[in-house]
Amino acid sequence: MMGNPYVTQADSQVGEFRRAAFFGGVYSNHLALAAALKLARSLRVDAVFALGDFGAFGPHPDRSVEILRGNGIISIQGNYEEALSQAAGDCRCGYVDPRDNHYARLSFDYTAMKTAAGHKAWMGTLPRNLRMTLGGQRVLCCHGSPRRINEFLWASSTSDAFLRKLLDDYQADLLLCTHTGLHWSRFLPAEGNGGRSARGIINVGALGRPANNGRTEVWFAVVERASGETKVEFVPVAYDHAKLASEMADEGLPPEFRATILTGWWTTCLEILPAKERAAGKF
Ligand SMILES: [Fe+2]
Repeated sequence: MMGNPYVTQADSQVGEFRRAAFFGGVYSNHLALAAALKLARSLRVDAVFALGDFGAFGPHPDRSVEILRGNGIISIQGNYEEALSQAAGDCRCGYVDPRDNHYARLSFDYTAMKTAAGHKAWMGTLPRNLRMTLGGQRVLCCHGSPRRINEFLWASSTSDAFLRKLLDDYQADLLLCTHTGLHWSRFLPAEGNGGRSARGIINVGALGRPANNGRTEVWFAVVERASGETKVEFVPVAYDHAKLASEMADEGLPPEFRATILTGWWTTCLEILPAKERAAGKF
């Protein structure tokens, strides 16, 4: 790997797995995180990974961090952990519209105020990217994209050509990411035979808020490599969302955030969505 500017010593290499669970943005949804962990263990995974953004949006950010740290969940930084550990002035979410940034500011200020200093320091020790092998395939985990922690990889705007370039540059077969909050996966077409290749992308979704589809469950991904095939399963997590909404009210978080938790439709940070993803939601 010497001489490849995309593959650095800073990438953490964690070993070989067969079947693993991957959690996307937790956004302080400690109730969903606890439920997801229980569910993942019942699905007999070898390991559980968290791809960053533990804070934002929800209540009591330390509760989620304590679950992650207390259960040996292998974690990388999201833009939130980068920003909190560096005492940045904002979440570096990558939003551009003032309407999105208004709510991002409320989330970040609350989370920064309520996160213990020791947890912020721990966030600063986490790697940005994580490499492993899954049944022999080279897996690269990142938050947004491997080149930018807050890049949004949406299904509608990530072309096969761009995906192939990322996989080639970063010497990976599978790219796992989160940051957008919407789960999806795609495998590149195989050369010649019309099927799918073993190379692709999995956006593992988010545990922190529902997938803008009118359902209150949140989602994570289980990825398994068996018999020469990569299997991706998106797992819905039902949890006590009414309790979460009530905690959010007690903490003075915006009613718009609670509405999302209670209805399954996004009400904020919508301007960043590409047209196709926006049209799939209610607002
Ligand atoms: Fe993020």
